[in-house]
Amino acid sequence: MLINHYIKKIKECYMMGWELMYEGKTKRVYVINDDNLAMEFKDVVTALDGVKKFHAPKKGVLNAAVSAHLFKLLESKGVKTHFISYDGGNIHIVRRLRIIPVEVIVRNYAYGSLIKRLPLFKEFEKLNRPIVEFHYKDDKLHDPLILPEDIVNLGLVSEKEVDELRSISLKVNDILLEELSSRGLKLIDFKVEFGRELDGEALILADEISGDSIRVVDEGGNHLDKEVFRRGGSVEALISAYSSLACRLGLTLRDLNVCS
Ligand SMILES: Nc1ncnc2c1ncn2[C@@H]1O[C@H](COP(=O)(O)OP(=O)(O)OP(=O)(O)O)[C@@H](O)[C@H]1O
Ligand SMILES: [Mg+2]
Repeated sequence: MLINHYIKKIKECYMMGWELMYEGKTKRVYVINDDNLAMEFKDVVTALDGVKKFHAPKKGVLNAAVSAHLFKLLESKGVKTHFISYDGGNIHIVRRLRIIPVEVIVRNYAYGSLIKRLPLFKEFEKLNRPIVEFHYKDDKLHDPLILPEDIVNLGLVSEKEVDELRSISLKVNDILLEELSSRGLKLIDFKVEFGRELDGEALILADEISGDSIRVVDEGGNHLDKEVFRRGGSVEALISAYSSLACRLGLTLRDLNVCS
């Protein structure tokens, strides 16, 4: 009840200029109170670390719906996340965290920057065991790959917590792999972020998991993720791929009229 009240309120107050805490490339973050935030998914697709921006109608609601579905699934399987609620639009209500500036990437198949770094791998080659990478979150530095020792030396997390980041991310991988493969989809890789509550130390999964942050292909090898756009596809092709991902996950998006 309280949450529904918040959602209604946030929509009203957003229109009226609710306090904006942060505007990123693809989301706006608003303060509800000391503990809770509203995360608005924008109808924007970016390229070149945000240097190029394009209007992408329906992208916000598609990513919000996919991410809400996956966060609810992860919560139900015991992963601690920031997710509180979602009402079908383009806004998530989440717990306010102190974000750790580290992106964790988990890879099941070789693709993208892994092949650039190590051309020994072939595109789509199945990895014998998943690779977990840590990247420092900084667009100006282009999110460089960093070592666990770098993270500890920078004082971002303790040595024990690096292991924890790795094991939670691998658990997320197992859950996503199972969910996507049950829908006939192959999870190539994904990126996640973590944070801590303002008054706590526990590591909590944050941000989003959507076509913007995962790579996933269907039986025909077609990407249902941002790769469509990175490879020169149109905004319309991207929205079509994101719609397919949402529909394949069984989401009902009647208002959008995308799933037949
Ligand atoms: N629960 C949370 N509490 C606080 N901040 C969060 C939470 N979840 C996500 N964020 C942050 O909110 C922002 C969402 O905006 P967006 O994803 O558009 O940013 P971005 O352009 O990718 O930039 P950044 O490099 O900061 O992620 C990100 O900075 C993300 O780290
Ligand atoms: Mg982001």
